[in-house]
Amino acid sequence: MSLSGIPVLILEKDTKRTHGRNALQSNIMAATAIAEMVRSSLGPRGMDKMLVDSIGDVTITNDGAEILKKIEVRHPAAKIIIQASKTQDDEAGDGTTTVVVVAGELLKQAQLLLEKGIHPSIIIKGYRLAAEEALKYLNEIAIEAKDDKTLMNVAKTTMNSKIISGFKDYLAKLVVDAVKQVAEEVDGTIKVDLNFIKIIKKEGEDISSTQLVKGVVVDKELKNDNMPKLIRDAKIAIVNPAIKLEKTELDANIRISSPEDIIAFKQKEEELVRNMVEKIKAIGASVILCQREIDDLAAGMMAKYNIMGVQNVAKRDLQRISKATGAKLINNLDDLSDEYLGSAGIVEARQIADSKYIFVEDCKNPKAVTIVLRGGTEHVVNEVDRSIHDALAVVRDVVEDGKVVPGGGAVEMALARHIEEYADKLSGKVQHAVRAFAKSLEIVPRTLAENAGLDPIDMMAKLHSAHEEGKKTYGVDLYKATTKDMVKAGVLEPLRVKTQVIKSASEVAQLILRIDDVIAAKKREMPKGPAGPGMGGMGMGGMGMGGMGGMPPM
Ligand SMILES: Nc1ncnc2c1ncn2[C@@H]1O[C@H](COP(=O)(O)OP(=O)(O)O)[C@@H](O)[C@H]1O
Ligand SMILES: [Mg+2]
Repeated sequence: MSLSGIPVLILEKDTKRTHGRNALQSNIMAATAIAEMVRSSLGPRGMDKMLVDSIGDVTITNDGAEILKKIEVRHPAAKIIIQASKTQDDEAGDGTTTVVVVAGELLKQAQLLLEKGIHPSIIIKGYRLAAEEALKYLNEIAIEAKDDKTLMNVAKTTMNSKIISGFKDYLAKLVVDAVKQVAEEVDGTIKVDLNFIKIIKKEGEDISSTQLVKGVVVDKELKNDNMPKLIRDAKIAIVNPAIKLEKTELDANIRISSPEDIIAFKQKEEELVRNMVEKIKAIGASVILCQREIDDLAAGMMAKYNIMGVQNVAKRDLQRISKATGAKLINNLDDLSDEYLGSAGIVEARQIADSKYIFVEDCKNPKAVTIVLRGGTEHVVNEVDRSIHDALAVVRDVVEDGKVVPGGGAVEMALARHIEEYADKLSGKVQHAVRAFAKSLEIVPRTLAENAGLDPIDMMAKLHSAHEEGKKTYGVDLYKATTKDMVKAGVLEPLRVKTQVIKSASEVAQLILRIDDVIAAKKREMPKGPAGPGMGGMGMGGMGMGGMGGMPPM
């Protein structure tokens, strides 16, 4: 850049700048490369990925969000796509692979239009119009249902695509029970806060030993071995301040002139602690869960009184226990009263494998529950955890919204056809973009078929003709190379998942298409740790991303 011959530098030296079409090209390539990478894991018959991080830890999964979380990418456009998958996870809890695959396809189709000389702004406009229309239509065709069978089907559909699918009936029931248990009506609408479904992972046994506890399980042990291990009809106090001897303040002035004085002073202190415990006992508490310390003296007294005492309980767990038992957090031991106590059928110190837990269970209509996950190995337990995470989220979506759509590519096909019809009503070049949007949605049934080893061209032809006949709920039967009614088959997904897919995928596609200039500061050299630079073994190169090789690193 120059003004009357004098160069004016507005960018830092070494700043990398990619202009116009080059920038767009590079961004589209990066985004589609990411989509291509997760595409083969979409659906029940998708493949699993083995991810190895820079310190050699292995994760085996086919959870799109998990795959993208674990890989390290450098390209800014790839990062934007990964962000969309995270948003999908936060908003709907499932559909994280789908959103990436659809966004990638939207960009691939956009690329074809660009090659035909259609300007990015026209494509952006077309995508915006198509997305709006898609969302409207999606709402129209959604099915209203939130009965148990639907909830079970939604949970099972999510778990179909996971390694644990053999246990999906068992786990789906557990998930539905958990979500319904914590659902609460707030101002006339049903709300499910998944924070109140605690998950405890413990390897050992097998998946079928996974259980739902009607209450809260805390990974702590009793403070004193002489405390009772089991209490029935427990009265529970949850306490914030420490129950211990307060150390005398530094500036206090104590005059001690004889050994008797020391003993008297000690006794005085002990009396204070004794008073605290007496008070707790007086209001009838049989279990004390304390956020801070319970000292040995206090614990010894509790044991004598047959009171269970547990210290250092996480605040979050105390909140859950409060929800489950009705106990109210005690912030000041002086204003103790039995109004603060909660109740549980059983409180028990229990050991699972080599770990100790306190079970607060058998609560009456608890609004907080715990799922204790079991599985043969750490890998299994972690994959069960991810599956349960998705299943809890989709069941929550449906309990809250009461709306589902057919899976197996059915809803995407119905949307694609509707948007095609919508495009007919438009004129000009924008029509091409709207059609490209419709075509992009077909990537879902096509990929499901492809991943199942079916002939995608044949399957798509069958699917088109089914929908042509008005069978709008028909999707891909992944086991019989035919189409079938997904509603009848019980392959259902929350409306919220698909709504979010449309929103996020079209937003990121538009966002990336709008960029015509990438100005990247020179990457600062990171000090090299023992494991080497961040890209380590897990960089794009490490993942076999040949396609990314030509991309300028930014
Ligand atoms: N039994 C089934 N038959 C056909 N499609 C199914 C079946 N179960 C699940 N699906 C489809 O699999 C897709 C979800 O795959 P998944 O790997 O979980 O990706 P995502 O991370 O996007 O949820 C959805 O389109 C869903 O409808
Ligand atoms: Mg899924």
